[in-house]
Parts: sequence; C-alpha cells; structure tokens
Amino acid sequence: MQNKVLITGGTGLLGKALIEKNDDGDEIMATYTGNYVAESHGQVKYLMLDIRDKSGYESLFNDFRPNVVIHTASIGSPDFAHNNRGITLEVNVNGVKNILSLCERYNSTLIHISSNGIYDGENAPYSEDDHAEPKNYYGQTKLQGEEVVKKTEIPFAIVRPILMYGWNHSFERQNIVTIALSKLIKNEKVFVYDDVYSNPLFSGSCANAIWKMINSNQYGIFNLAGRERVSIYELVVAVAEIFNLNKELVIPVKQGYFNELVPRPKDTSYNTAKMEKILKIKPLTLFEGLEKMRSTQK
Ligand SMILES: NC(=O)c1ccc[n+]([C@@H]2O[C@H](COP(=O)([O-])OP(=O)(O)OC[C@H]3O[C@@H](n4cnc5c(N)ncnc54)[C@H](OP(=O)(O)O)[C@@H]3O)[C@@H](O)[C@H]2O)c1
Repeated sequence: MQNKVLITGGTGLLGKALIEKNDDGDEIMATYTGNYVAESHGQVKYLMLDIRDKSGYESLFNDFRPNVVIHTASIGSPDFAHNNRGITLEVNVNGVKNILSLCERYNSTLIHISSNGIYDGENAPYSEDDHAEPKNYYGQTKLQGEEVVKKTEIPFAIVRPILMYGWNHSFERQNIVTIALSKLIKNEKVFVYDDVYSNPLFSGSCANAIWKMINSNQYGIFNLAGRERVSIYELVVAVAEIFNLNKELVIPVKQGYFNELVPRPKDTSYNTAKMEKILKIKPLTLFEGLEKMRSTQK
C-alpha cells in the first residue's frame, strides 16, 4: 500500500536518509525550519514549518492527511539544549504533544524518534526495557517526549537511534564522520574521545529499519544500532582507513578535553537483539556502513 507520510525534520541526517531509502513511491511531505529553501522533487514536497506552530501543522494535517508521521524534528545538541532550556522544551516536548494530538485526531500512525541520550551510560549494553536515567537536559527532554507518546492509544513506535553517521545535506548539521572527513582531507588533526563508546548507526540503515517497521506493521519500542561497540577514536580511525586518509592524524583524548558544558554518557551501546528478532535486521558492521558512504561519495 502506498502511504502518505509526513516527515518532520525532513532535511536532517535521518530525514534525508528516510527520503532516499523510500522506494515504495510513498507521497512524502517533509518539514524543516532553517533559513534555506529545500527543493521539492517527484513525490517529495518540502515545507518550512516550525514544530511549535500548532495551527500551521493543523492546516498541514487537514490538507495532506498523512496516514503515517515520522517525527524526527528535534533539538539535538546537548550543549545547545543546556543553554536554551525554554526552546528545547518547546521543541522536544511540546512539539511532540502538538504532533501526537494531530495524529490522534487524524488517525495517523506515529513513529517517534527518541535517542540513546535517555540513558546515563553506566550500565551498557541497553535493551529496550532497561531503566532510562538521562545525564543531561537534552536526554531529559527526549525522555519526556517518549512519556508523552507512551500514553496514547493510537498505533505508535518509539525509535531510539544511537550515534548516527552518514552524508548530511550541506546546509545541515554535520555528524562525527563528516566532521572527521572534512578535517582529514585537509590534513588536519582530529581529536576524539577514546573513553566514550557506542555502536554507531549508519543513517541509511536506521531509515531502512523504520520503513520496514511501517511496511510490516511492527510497532513498539526499538533501540537501533550498528554491530560493533567502539570508542569514537576507533570509529574515526576506521573512517581514515576506509577513505584512505592518514590515520596518524586521529588523536585520542579523554572526556573533558573540549570543556563541554554538559556531561555526556560514557557508554550507551545497545543490545540489538530486538531489532534482529522482530524486524529481522542484521546490524551493519562499521566497515559495511562506512563503505556504503564511501561508495556514494559525491
Ligand atoms: N544524529 C544522531 O546521532 C542521533 C542520535 C540519537 C537520536 N537522534 C534523534 O534522531 C532524530 C533525527 O536526528 P538528526 O541527526 O537527523 O537531526 P538533525 O540532522 O539535527 O536534523 C534535525 C531536523 O529537524 C529540523 N528541526 C529542528 N528544529 C525544528 C523545529 N523547531 N521545527 C521543525 N523542524 C525542526 C531541522 O530543520 P532545520 O535545520 O531546517 O531547522 C532538521 O531537518 C532526532 O530526534 C534526534 O534526537 C539522533
């Protein structure tokens, strides 16, 4: 069946991958807020519409009538969230309330995107039912967003990606892999933590899992990750190796080196048994994910 899908945050890393990985010809409406014009193409239309604008979304739901909503839009920087609590609460919590109430009114299934930031990183690996204890304000708002969604009676999924990497739009936020690549290509050193761990997730792989959920009606809560648990340092060394760049430029440092404002969880790696069993998805190895990036380099 063809779907009418609203993707909030459709220009972000995950939004971009969702649009690229949709091969069912679904009709897609993708929203964003930035100061640029995203060009509509084929079945994909872009609309600048802030998630805090409830009446704007009311009109959008009324006109477009999505049967599925993938709510990716979020403030994603822990430091920004810490310094800008009011707007972070409005976007990451009240924005979820706005979208959920419209999904309830228009009978749309909601795929809500949460985060590994809900865990404190002291008890990895994390399965879906493990206790969530955020370490910073960003994590708190992501957990509050989940709590809003869990109360609904409409069909929903909560997807918790872990550290994602992939090709972002040039006008959007970079990720650890694209940041490292832009430095290594210029022969600049990259300083990265060797004491922060996760199992990094290729954005295309996250998108595939979400489309599979939708097309097989498998909802619920899913922690999505790649296969290997690595430190950020090991991840960036793998990037240098796969893209044939100088790995001697990758310098390991400890947490605190960058004087970050807020504490980050040390190890939020996931146990991926549920995604493997229910969605029948084998997590990609780092080599597989980075190789997919390398082979689609522009
Ligand atoms: N990236 C990761 O490693 C990671 C890890 C765990 C969980 N997640 C979660 O995954 C989701 C997607 O992350 P991402 O990395 O794809 O995000 P991203 O690249 O930072 O993109 C965020 C998207 O949301 C839009 N957006 C931000 N504020 C908005 C607002 N007020 N109204 C409407 N749209 C707004 C942005 O548009 P503009 O830029 O135009 O404003 C952009 O399209 C988020 O919920 C995030 O918490 C991400």
